[in-house]
Amino acid sequence: PIEKRIDDLLSRMTLEEKIGQMNQYNGFWDVTGPSPIEGDAEKKYNDLRNGFVGSMLNVRGVDEVKAVQKIAVEETRLGIPLIIGFDVIHGYQTISPIPLAESASWDLEAIRKSAEMAALEASAVGINWTFAPMIDVSRDARWGRVMEGAGEDPYLGGKIAYARVKGFQGDDLSKVNTIAACAKHFAGYGFAEAGKEYNTVDVGTSTLYNIIFPPFQASIDAEVKTFMNSFNQLNGIPATGNKYLQREILKDKWKFDGFVVSDWGSIYEMIPHGYAENLSKAVEIAVNAGSDMDMESNAYVNELSKLIKEGKVNETLIDDSVRRILRVKFELGLFDDPYRYCNKEREKKVLGSKEVIDASLDIAKKSIVLLKNDNQLLPLKKYGQKIAVIGALANDKTSPLGNWRIAAKNESAISVLEGLSNYKGNTIAYAKGVDVVLNKTDFTREVVINETDTSGFSEAKKIAKNSDVVIMVLGEDGFQSGEGRSRTEIGLPGLQQQLLEEVYKVNPNIVLVLNNGRPLTLGWADNHIPSILEAWHLGTQSGNAIAQVLYGDYNPSGKLPMSFPRSVGQVPIYYNQQSTGRPNYPGGDVVFWSHYQDDKNEVLYPFGHGLSYTQFEYKNMRIKQENKIFVVEVDITNTGEIQGKEVVQLYIRDVFASVARPIKELKGFELISLNPKENKTVQFTLTDKELGFYNNTGEFIVESGLFEVFVGGSSKTVLNGKFEIK
Ligand code: IFM
Repeated sequence: PIEKRIDDLLSRMTLEEKIGQMNQYNGFWDVTGPSPIEGDAEKKYNDLRNGFVGSMLNVRGVDEVKAVQKIAVEETRLGIPLIIGFDVIHGYQTISPIPLAESASWDLEAIRKSAEMAALEASAVGINWTFAPMIDVSRDARWGRVMEGAGEDPYLGGKIAYARVKGFQGDDLSKVNTIAACAKHFAGYGFAEAGKEYNTVDVGTSTLYNIIFPPFQASIDAEVKTFMNSFNQLNGIPATGNKYLQREILKDKWKFDGFVVSDWGSIYEMIPHGYAENLSKAVEIAVNAGSDMDMESNAYVNELSKLIKEGKVNETLIDDSVRRILRVKFELGLFDDPYRYCNKEREKKVLGSKEVIDASLDIAKKSIVLLKNDNQLLPLKKYGQKIAVIGALANDKTSPLGNWRIAAKNESAISVLEGLSNYKGNTIAYAKGVDVVLNKTDFTREVVINETDTSGFSEAKKIAKNSDVVIMVLGEDGFQSGEGRSRTEIGLPGLQQQLLEEVYKVNPNIVLVLNNGRPLTLGWADNHIPSILEAWHLGTQSGNAIAQVLYGDYNPSGKLPMSFPRSVGQVPIYYNQQSTGRPNYPGGDVVFWSHYQDDKNEVLYPFGHGLSYTQFEYKNMRIKQENKIFVVEVDITNTGEIQGKEVVQLYIRDVFASVARPIKELKGFELISLNPKENKTVQFTLTDKELGFYNNTGEFIVESGLFEVFVGGSSKTVLNGKFEIK
């Protein structure tokens, strides 16, 4: 029946009204891209009244949404409702951990639940559609947007993409508490050269098919309703104007029946890319390539009808785009009741409700990764300790919200100091030590620049000296990662490293709690500091989650979704690299092998790494063949004294292939919980899906020959075996 209703509507629409459905305007307050043209608010209102706007973004709250929806529904000729989009990236008002952090939980159900809670809040304020999940695989920690993705691995990324889409969309989009998801950015955006935002992308076919595409395919499996294309070029063709990506792959091969939205201004940006000579040409290219909706280029609405009249764009393509857009609006139930997401009472009840807060605390604890814990300094003793807490981020109630949290109130996160103060058995002294230096280009928070001010060091050292344990909360401000926040150095920003070293001189008993949105280089800390806890930007419940982990009320179970390099010179670095012709040291006085002269090849903390307050032993790998399926079993024992969770990871290597395969590829994982001394057998099944790969013509193939299997608690695995496909 939906298709029939679309047919009927389409038959009654003028060309201009159809083009209007393909036009998305930013609201009049928040911006998430370069500022819209000044003074264009009046034109936008007029277009809205004339039925030339199909969607708006950055309009939020029941009152605001209702106001624009009312114009679309009550003042336009056909009364077609708007679809309201918003970047609900990790929560709406109640903020959950940044997506990279959530990915460190490897807990797919908790991740799904987190997206469900985000949808619950967003749908209660009138939003119908989130521009999430971002599922760009990235291997480059310099790129600020790694905070928004699932890290470096396509298999884990695919599972997480699936969980997030299901979380946002639920099993029925017409329910009032679900919203449409958007798989972005299609494609290759995570491979910006040198980690520089919006930079050129140059990837080979094998990487495109085997690394970049799989999480997008997983989002199709999850029935994602929309895609967003990306700012970058791919082999010289901007993704927005890329017919191969949008028509051949996405719509034809993958049979995607939702719609594609451009990124902010990316249709216009084909001009500076050097691809389209003017806006009219950009529109012609974008529509023909399959970009269904124009976000803030003001391009389709101004240029498209002329192109159709000139025969440069076929009207059947417009009908196809409009059909796709209307379909999602019908599925959301907007035609049945355009105000169904605009209920003031529900808005009040849902925002910040207990259910949402509890879920955000739950996933925050699960996202924390224990990188190092010498001498069992953690968990902290609960009584009789003098604890020094040092670092500006320890007392910060805004930074833990991370980037992409437009609707969250400043100062709405629980700080580490607040979280720790719930434990009354110890005494706490606090010193800031030094400010976190923000980048001058940051436009969202006040800039704090005083790089030479070490005046807070002495107080920090004084309290450290008088303490049993020092907790130093250091890292990046919430706005030092995210869109437009690329960095060339990825150590602790500003004077924080110096502060750490100074405090260490007076008391080496330090627990370093990191707040950051990307892997950092932590060589000195790893050499000197006994305990290091990766606490990312954990959202509203940050301080409570960190305190519970520090005190052992939650035993850390997170595992890194991205490798932590030793130095920025190693970047891009990732576990699933190709071999080279000279991968190993040949012995003797020989330099002719693949290595650096000034550092090791290995990363500091590998993909999949993360410790627990207990220990796990891996034993007895068994490999059985059942028809064309290989079953791998291993036994895991909790050899410590407390209950703990472990992510058991399985990797394979296809040893020789017609397109050389990576030295290791994640192909299975299971999150298990074990009581002290408990033993469990974990079973993995390897089918064609896990054993095959895409060749350089984009065909999925499974080749016979030798395979190696590796299992362990990180990509640095402990068990291995072999089998052969005959
Ligand atoms: O959704 C975002 C996108 O990821 C980057 N540019 C702006 C869009 C809308 O805010």
